[in-house]
Amino acid sequence: MIYLSPPSMTEVERRLLLEAFDSNWVAPLGPFVDRLEQQVAEVGGRAHAVALSSGTAALHLALLLAGVRPGDEVLVPTLTFAATANAVSYCGATPVFVDAEPASWNVDPQLLDDELRVARRVGRRVGAVLPVDLYGQCADYEALLRVCADHGVPLVADAAEAVGASFDGRPAGSFGLFSAFSFNGNKIITTGGGGALLTDDADAAARARYLATQARLPAEHYEHAEIGFNYRLSNLLAAVGCGQIDRLPDILERRRVVHGNYRALFADVPGVSFAPVSAKGTPNHWLTVIVLDGAGSSDGTDGPDCADGREAAVVRVRAVIAALRELGCEARRVWKPMHLQPVFAGARAVGGAVAESAFAHGICLPSGTELTEVEQERIVATVCAALATGR
Ligand SMILES: Cc1ncc(COP(=O)(O)O)c(C=O)c1O
Repeated sequence: MIYLSPPSMTEVERRLLLEAFDSNWVAPLGPFVDRLEQQVAEVGGRAHAVALSSGTAALHLALLLAGVRPGDEVLVPTLTFAATANAVSYCGATPVFVDAEPASWNVDPQLLDDELRVARRVGRRVGAVLPVDLYGQCADYEALLRVCADHGVPLVADAAEAVGASFDGRPAGSFGLFSAFSFNGNKIITTGGGGALLTDDADAAARARYLATQARLPAEHYEHAEIGFNYRLSNLLAAVGCGQIDRLPDILERRRVVHGNYRALFADVPGVSFAPVSAKGTPNHWLTVIVLDGAGSSDGTDGPDCADGREAAVVRVRAVIAALRELGCEARRVWKPMHLQPVFAGARAVGGAVAESAFAHGICLPSGTELTEVEQERIVATVCAALATGR
């Protein structure tokens, strides 16, 4: 099976893992955790990183540290993975789902601005804005930071998918009060499972470590004055992460090549385009996403005069995914927008047409570090054959 983004493990990670094992530092602390934190802070352009058991844990702590309280609203993109919104719910806050901008499929800064204006007028407290760097492309932080500063709302960046990407010359993870990386098994680099919270605030980093260790106070016995979490990363997994970060430049280069190959192979195929890439940043090409039959209008939605109905597009998308599965390849639809998810039924949504169009037309293709050109040729041929059959 060729997976979307399988782990790429080499002798480098194996050697470090065994070194950690042989040292008997197998607990959720140890020298590799410290080393990983230093390396992650460097990659994210931050003074501090806290290694945690998942990206979701990092988002949860980041929101708490940003001051999100029960009853608050937190503005999040509707086009994202559920973990973004779940972390908001863990804080007792309510996610409000904001549509994507057509230029990048990331959250639309103008809609955010409008919503923050409304919230202020009607007296709703917005605890934080939580943009996502979708599929490894940074959100428009120039605009987002301006909007958040105008409204005095903290920005927490969900950079789970964007390790190694950049925006305006600055690395993913460096934006906002806090940011979160994921090292889940399918991410661009992995510890098997893990994540990190990044910040420039030393006190906040120390508090994150404390909260992630069951809020244990320094004492000779076990002393706790508030509710904490068991969110720290094992030293064994941190060792794997150190090896992955050592290899990050090579991994990023491979992903760039894989993405470039897809562009070349689909160049003359009618009806196939790519998810939008903004000129302001450099994605890490975590996943390459193709768009079937494009979106019908310049605003990124299907458009009223789109020759193809949305349902027809979905039928084609599903046929392509099924054909790839038969070939032994994992392909997936673009994230189903959060405002369409049963678990968030009743939540407030600001727009949504761009995200819905992306969901209807988009397909995430296998994009792994070790994907070969021959495999890519087979994938593209299968997509083309499925499209030809469906016409
Ligand atoms: C956008 C986004 N946010 C958060 C997460 C959560 O990360 P983790 O799986 O490490 O908890 C993921 C990935 O899983 C993600 O894609």
